[in-house]
Amino acid sequence: MANKKIKSDEAAIDVLLKEKKIYPPAKSFSRLAYVKSFAELKNLRKKALSSPEKFWESAAKELFWHKPWRKTLAWKPPFSQWFVGGKINASYNALDRHLSGFRRHKAALIWEGENGEKRVLTYLELYREVCRAANALKKLGIKAGDRVAIYMPMVPEAVIAMLACSRIGAPHNVVFAGFSASALSERIQDAQVKLVITADGFFRKGLIVKPKDVVDEALKSAPSVEKVLVLNRGIVENSSWVEGRDVDWVDALSEASDDCPAEKLDSEHPLFILYTSGSTGKPKGILHTTGGYLVQAAWTTKYVFDLKDDDLFWCTADIGWVTGHSYVVYGPLLNGATVFMYEGSPMHPAPDRFWSMIERHKISILYTAPTAIRAFMRLGESWPQKHDLSSLRLLGSVGEPINPEAWRWYHKNIGREKCPIVDTWWQTETGSIMISPLPGATGTKPGSASLPLPGIDAEVVDRSGNPVPLGAGGYLVIKKPWPGMLRTIYGNPARYKEQYFSQALALGKKNYPYYFTGDGARKDKDGYFWVLGRIDDVLNVSGHRLSTMEIESALVSHPAVAEAAVVGRPDDLTGQAVSAFVTLKEGQNPDESLKREISEYVGRAISPIAKPADIRFTPLLPKTRSGKIMRRLLREIASGGAVKGDVTTLEDLGALEKLQSQEEE
Ligand code: WTA
Repeated sequence: MANKKIKSDEAAIDVLLKEKKIYPPAKSFSRLAYVKSFAELKNLRKKALSSPEKFWESAAKELFWHKPWRKTLAWKPPFSQWFVGGKINASYNALDRHLSGFRRHKAALIWEGENGEKRVLTYLELYREVCRAANALKKLGIKAGDRVAIYMPMVPEAVIAMLACSRIGAPHNVVFAGFSASALSERIQDAQVKLVITADGFFRKGLIVKPKDVVDEALKSAPSVEKVLVLNRGIVENSSWVEGRDVDWVDALSEASDDCPAEKLDSEHPLFILYTSGSTGKPKGILHTTGGYLVQAAWTTKYVFDLKDDDLFWCTADIGWVTGHSYVVYGPLLNGATVFMYEGSPMHPAPDRFWSMIERHKISILYTAPTAIRAFMRLGESWPQKHDLSSLRLLGSVGEPINPEAWRWYHKNIGREKCPIVDTWWQTETGSIMISPLPGATGTKPGSASLPLPGIDAEVVDRSGNPVPLGAGGYLVIKKPWPGMLRTIYGNPARYKEQYFSQALALGKKNYPYYFTGDGARKDKDGYFWVLGRIDDVLNVSGHRLSTMEIESALVSHPAVAEAAVVGRPDDLTGQAVSAFVTLKEGQNPDESLKREISEYVGRAISPIAKPADIRFTPLLPKTRSGKIMRRLLREIASGGAVKGDVTTLEDLGALEKLQSQEEE
């Protein structure tokens, strides 16, 4: 019975593996695709595997380099450098390069606000705005290398801010505008940010959210920040203003020239820092540099989405996540594409908002997350059926494993059985897509991200690092460096080495040469990868990464809480849900209102995404003799499974302690 959860996982995997139906690429799609057949893809993968450097060199040649590189890859495990000696600029490649030809007046960005407002920026217009913003940043004292935090809603200015930073070589640190003041402050302090860009407000589900207020609060504990550039959209009355520190976006840009030559930056110049949750400690500042990241972002956007000049590309991710960096901003703009961007909630004013926008704007590529698909699935087919979705030609999925049921629903009701689906596996750390079908070439199996892309050497291994037999579960690792890989954890190379390489500790080898993803996976007889999800203490709730430790420390900072443990449990909608076990201090009343209060408290401390879906009060937490919380046991309880010895209530956990401790140690 203790193995009930594992058994049910295995049963689910068996179902997946028995999934016979392969969806071959439609001939009509393949004919016009960049890669037209499986044979062609196989050949490409084979060649790239024998010389990944050659493969990435040819991809790099599609970008503009101010100075060519001397050496494609310098690999001193676990540290890599790509296109060494080359000079390149992200903003130049995303904008200037398109101005001399037919794309000059092409729409770069089509934006819709939650309340229906619309804006279109052509490449020339976007370029000018970016130049103005870059000059404004310079005037505020920002130089190459200075960190700038962007705490912005999904408005065109967020994209402008990112490209303005990269134009002058100031690494951006975008923080999701749903994060709390303390989460924002922590990220600003860790990156020693000099300037913050924010907005007075934005719309979400018909309500006004006020990020500027959060910035004010965060800056009480972040002394490195000198200036705050504020986009006043005029939606918040009497928005606060700190004289001498706050600068108005419109004023600053209107005074600035629209000519700002792009800095010729070293290929390894830091492009951005993006914080993500790890299994231990505070969030990790994932550092990406310029040349390699751009090469892979550009290549994957072009080939995975088979992106053409007449597409309207919509990646629904927020710019606060890596998906927003690579597939709202850099990837599509590097390819000269037209990007669609939406400010608000998918359910506002009604659950057909997405389908209505696809119909009205004639969006051709939709890239979204399984949680969103499951939420739409619950609401029923009638919402998408009201709309003409015939402009769509390709669908994508990212952020979490997609269950075959949701895949098929997406295929039938959104893709109307004619759009290929690319299920793309990757991470903040990988920078860009790593495992995915190419839509004109790969037959797809619902639930599998299929095969590693050309130039990516992925494998499923056992604890000692040896490949497991086909069909068996193991650890997903990447065996060779790739251009978009993280370079380090900002300010903490030792943690970088420890977490991603000598995790090898967990794999029983020192100086493990492979990058460990933190995910479990299986490979089937066709070599297709089935990513099963995180195997460390990282939760994936609605495609958002959360660390159990972070939520636990938020819980114990509540005055009523003595001790807390957090685990993930399966959830039909969000993939995983946060389940908390809480021991209260003496004299506290363990009632429902305290549960609600604690949950709200976590929402305020981190972000509403981190709120526990359930809280259980327990007089003690089960621990091993060395004091480690027995998470496996808690996971079983949280997912409703019975635990060994027929002990199902938390009150009995004390009795279990001895029994379990031997097993866990
Ligand atoms: C999970 C998001 C299965 C995985 C781009 C990974 C997926 C984590 C998929 C990274 C997928 C992402 N199938 N699992 N197609 N895509 N994941 O850093 O567990 O926010 O390690 O990057 O999401 O999340 P992150």
